[in-house]
Amino acid sequence: MIRLKSTNLAKTNVSALVVPVCEDGPVHDNPVVSRLADTAMAIPEFKGEAGDQVILYSPEGLRVERVICMGLGKTKKVDGETLRALAGKAVKRGIAMKLSSLMIASPSAGRLDREPGQILAPLMEGAYLGNHRFDRYKEKIEKKPLKRIDLLVAADQVRKHAVLQRRVQAVCDGTILAREWVSTPANDKRPDVFAREIADQARNAGLKVEVITERGLVSKGFGAMMAVGQGSDSKPRLAVLRYQPKGVKKTIALVGKGVTFDSGGINLKPTAGLSDMKMDMSGAAAVAGTLIAAATIKPKVGLVGLIPIVENMVSGNATRPGDVIKSFSGKTVEVGNTDAEGRLILADAMAYAVKKYNPHALIDLATLTGACVVALGEKIAGVFSSDDDLAQTIVAAGRQTHERCWHLPLPEDYKELLKSPLADLSNMSSSRWGGAITAALFLSEFAGKTRWAHIDIAGPAYTKKATDYCEAGGTGFGVRLLWDLVEQL
Ligand code: BES
Ligand code: ZN
Ligand code: ZN
Repeated sequence: MIRLKSTNLAKTNVSALVVPVCEDGPVHDNPVVSRLADTAMAIPEFKGEAGDQVILYSPEGLRVERVICMGLGKTKKVDGETLRALAGKAVKRGIAMKLSSLMIASPSAGRLDREPGQILAPLMEGAYLGNHRFDRYKEKIEKKPLKRIDLLVAADQVRKHAVLQRRVQAVCDGTILAREWVSTPANDKRPDVFAREIADQARNAGLKVEVITERGLVSKGFGAMMAVGQGSDSKPRLAVLRYQPKGVKKTIALVGKGVTFDSGGINLKPTAGLSDMKMDMSGAAAVAGTLIAAATIKPKVGLVGLIPIVENMVSGNATRPGDVIKSFSGKTVEVGNTDAEGRLILADAMAYAVKKYNPHALIDLATLTGACVVALGEKIAGVFSSDDDLAQTIVAAGRQTHERCWHLPLPEDYKELLKSPLADLSNMSSSRWGGAITAALFLSEFAGKTRWAHIDIAGPAYTKKATDYCEAGGTGFGVRLLWDLVEQL
C-alpha cells in the first residue's frame, strides 16, 4: 500500500525520509524539506547529480531519524522515468537498510514545470513496484519489502489526488500479478492450472469469467490452439474475462499469448534460454492484469480479455512440421515450424474475438518473435498495425509509461513469404529475414476488418537483471501501457 500523506516533520516520528535533490535549483515548496536539501547540497561530495546519495541523521528540530538525500540530476531533465527510478532506488535502499517504512518527499510540480499527477503517479509507481519481491519459492527471505510507503505532499494534495492514488495502486497491483505469473515456473502454471488461477483472481476482482476447456474448444473449431497444445498432457484453455459497464457500447478486445512453456515442439529449441521459455505467457499475464485492474478502476469503456493458454511440448502426439491444421476462422495453415506456435493460438483467439464481440479495437500482446528482440533489443516492444493512428497512440502511451514501443511496418508484399503450396497459409516465412514482420502479417490475416494492433513484447516481458523498480524475472510489461491506452481509445 502506498499513501499520500501530509505531516508535520517536527511532530510526527518518521524513521526515514527520502529527499530528492536537483543539482541546479530547489524543487521543494515545503520549507522543512527544502532546508534538508540545502544541508545536503552543502556537503562537498553531494552534488544532486543522478546517483548521488547522502544520509543525514537526526536533523535538529525534527522527529526524523534519518534523511536519505538522493540526486535527481538537472531540473529540466526530470521526467516520469527519472522519478520512477529515484523512488525505486529509494525503496531498494530502504529494504537494504532493513527498514519497515519509508516516506518520500514529493518535489513540487510547479518547480519542475509539470502537472502534479505527472510527479505523483511515477513516484508512486516506482516506489510501489520497486517494493515488490517474488519470494514464494524461498524458505529464507533475505530482503523483506517495506510495510509502508508514504508520499509526503502538501495538505491540499492528499484528497485532491485520492482517485489518482487508487488508480496507480490498481494498475501496479495488476502489474505485480502479471510479474508473478511470468516468474512462476512452468510446472506450477500448466494450462489447466494457469487458466483456473486467472479465473479465480478475475472472479474475485468482480469480472465476468468464462473458461472454455478442451471439449468446448474442439467443438467450436479452435483447430490451431488444439494443434499447438496436443503434445502436452495439460490441454488448452481459452480464458475470457469481461468488464462491461452498463450503458457503454464501446468494447476493446485484448488478446494475450499464453504459452505456459515453449519447448519449440518437434522443432525443439536449443538448450540455451530454454528455461526462460516459461515467460512465453507474458502477453496473457499482461492482459489478465489489465482486466483485473479494470474491475477496480471502472473505466467507461467495455473490455474483453481473450487469453489462449497452451503448453508447446514434444511427445508422440505432438503436431509435426508439415501438418496442416484448420483454424477457427476456417483458414487452413501448414505448420512449417512447430516453434512458430504463438501466431497459431493468437489466430484462433483473434478470429473468435472478432466474430463473437465485434470490438471497436483489437489489440494483441505476445512474446512472439526472437526477431523482434534482435531488431529492438530487450527493452523496447514492436508495434504493428493496419491503422497508423492506433500505432501512434500506442507509441505515445509507451512514452508516458516508459513501456517503450516502436512502430514497425506491415508491408503487404511480404505476405508472399507466408504462402503454402498446400494450405491457405504457412506459419513459417520462406525468408530468414524480417521475422517479427512476417509474424505480424500472419496475425493480420485473422483480424478481419477490425481496427487491430499487435505488440511484440518478446524483449521487454522478462529481465535477467534487476532494474531500478523491477527485480529479475517477469516485468509485467504491458499492464501500465494498456492502461494508458485504454484511457485514450
Ligand atoms: N516464444 C518464441 C519467441 C521468443 C523468443 C520469446 C525469445 C521470447 C524470447 C516464439 O514462439 C518462437 O519460438 N518464435 C520463433 C519463430 C520462428 C520459428 C519463425 C523465433 O522467433 O525464432
Ligand atoms: Zn515458439
Ligand atoms: Zn512462443
